[in-house]
Parts: sequence; structure tokens; C-alpha cells
Amino acid sequence: MEKRFGKNTVLKGLNFSVSPGERVTLIGPSGSGKTTILRLIMTLEELSGGFIFVGGQPLTHEERGGKRVALPGKRVRETTKRIGMVFQHFNLFPNMTVLENLVEAPIHVLGMSRPEAEEKARGLLDKVGLADKEGAHPTRLSGGQQQRVAIARALAMDPEILLLDEVTSALDPELVGDVLQVLRDIAAETDITMLIVTHEMQFARDVSQRVMMFDQGVILEDGPPEEIFTRPREERTQRFLSAVLD
Ligand SMILES: Nc1ncnc2c1ncn2[C@@H]1O[C@H](COP(=O)(O)OP(=O)(O)OP(=O)(O)O)[C@@H](O)[C@H]1O
Ligand SMILES: [Mg+2]
Repeated sequence: MEKRFGKNTVLKGLNFSVSPGERVTLIGPSGSGKTTILRLIMTLEELSGGFIFVGGQPLTHEERGGKRVALPGKRVRETTKRIGMVFQHFNLFPNMTVLENLVEAPIHVLGMSRPEAEEKARGLLDKVGLADKEGAHPTRLSGGQQQRVAIARALAMDPEILLLDEVTSALDPELVGDVLQVLRDIAAETDITMLIVTHEMQFARDVSQRVMMFDQGVILEDGPPEEIFTRPREERTQRFLSAVLD
């Protein structure tokens, strides 16, 4: 796949696949394209060339008669439903309560009944340790609590794929642990495929089976965490790791 912003090509000839249930951590310097990859998969950015497949289905474009053809919006949305994303800055709906944040998409996108959506939402809030916050507005919560709501909101859609973009980077250090613990539990208890952008290297080691190192929109190395973190092949990876581990 390829992604350009104007004349600036930020992802070039990028080609990788992730197996169902696999947990992959994306690392690399600022501007290397990690967020862009997740946003392309979430269809928040438009792909400039090539294809993305989700569960074997083309996401936004398919090849027909040798041509690259855009798929109708309805079909794109059908596939996008299977993907959840959590952002660095939570992106909760500020004018809705926590419970409303969680039931909005299941009701309006999946057509779930309100009682069913609320029951599921309460179960998820319990899971992330926020059962007592369902009536609160997000602005009344700490950053760590807001991020756990955002994770619960993504899970309320029963995603097959979860995209996590530096979900602890905006948090005070003492709030990071709870959020990572919630993610560790999800990794242990579900078979959701995860693409994780993080600078939390211990967490990446513990939950992911694979680490991809990006630089300037290309994959520099791709391998199990013990390999990439302890004996990286590329000098660029070594430099990057010593900078973030300091
Ligand atoms: N909306 C945009 N318009 C123009 N250029 C963009 C846009 N979004 C990203 N870029 C450019 O694309 C490149 C990749 O950016 P991206 O945000 O994916 O990097 P990143 O690896 O997530 O970096 P960071 O670690 O700082 O979050 C950068 O050169 C960036 O300037
Ligand atoms: Mg980024």
C-alpha cells in the first residue's frame, strides 16, 4: 500500500500481513508512519495506492479487471465495524455520560437494543474497573479512567481487530499501570487481533508476539520481541531503542 499527503509520500510499497489473533507492536521514530497505518486501517485516512484486506475482504478498494476500484461506502462501513481504535487523547464524546459513550455505536451501528447494549456496557465497565462511573461525564474522570472508558467503548463493538495508538502517552505516569493492566487482561482473555503503537517496551514484550520497526514509512525489521529488543539487526533500530529505553 501507499500513502501520500500532497507530494509527501509517507508510506511506500508497504506490504505486511497480520494473522488472526496476532498481537503486533509497531515501533519507530516520530514521523515514521505508525499512526498513519492505524488510521488507514480505521479508514480515517484515504489510501493513495494499493489495498488493505481485513479477514480476506478488501477494505476500501478492490482490483477489478486490472483496475483499482473504490468500494461503495456501505461495504466499507460493514468491514470497518469489525475494527476498533483507541487514541492517545481518548476522543470520548464529552457531552455524553460514560454509559452513553459505550452504547452509542452498538445501538446505532450494530442495531443492538438499548437494554442489551446497556447490559453489555455495564459488564465492560466492570471489567475495566469503572462500574461506579456509568453516569459520570468524561470530563469528571482522570485521564486513566477516560482511557479505560475508551477501551471499553471500543470493546462494546466486539471488534475482531483492535488498534491502539500510544494509548498511555498522554497519561500521568501513575495512571499508566491501570490502563496497561486492562490491555494485558484483554490480550490474555480474548483472541482479538491487536496492532499496538507504544513506547512501553516491557508491555510490548509481554503482550505481542511480533514487533515491526518502521523508519520513513518502510519496515526496517520484523520479528519476535526478544529478537528485536535484545539483538536488533539494524543500527537504526539499536539507536532508536537506546533512545527510548533511556
Ligand atoms: N494529516 C496530515 N497531513 C500531512 N502530513 C501528515 C498528516 N498526517 C501525518 N502526516 C505526515 O506523515 C508522516 C507520518 O506521520 P505519522 O503521524 O504516521 O507518524 P508516527 O510514526 O505516528 O509519529 P509519532 O511517533 O510522532 O506519533 C509524517 O511525516 C507526518 O508529517
Ligand atoms: Mg503517531
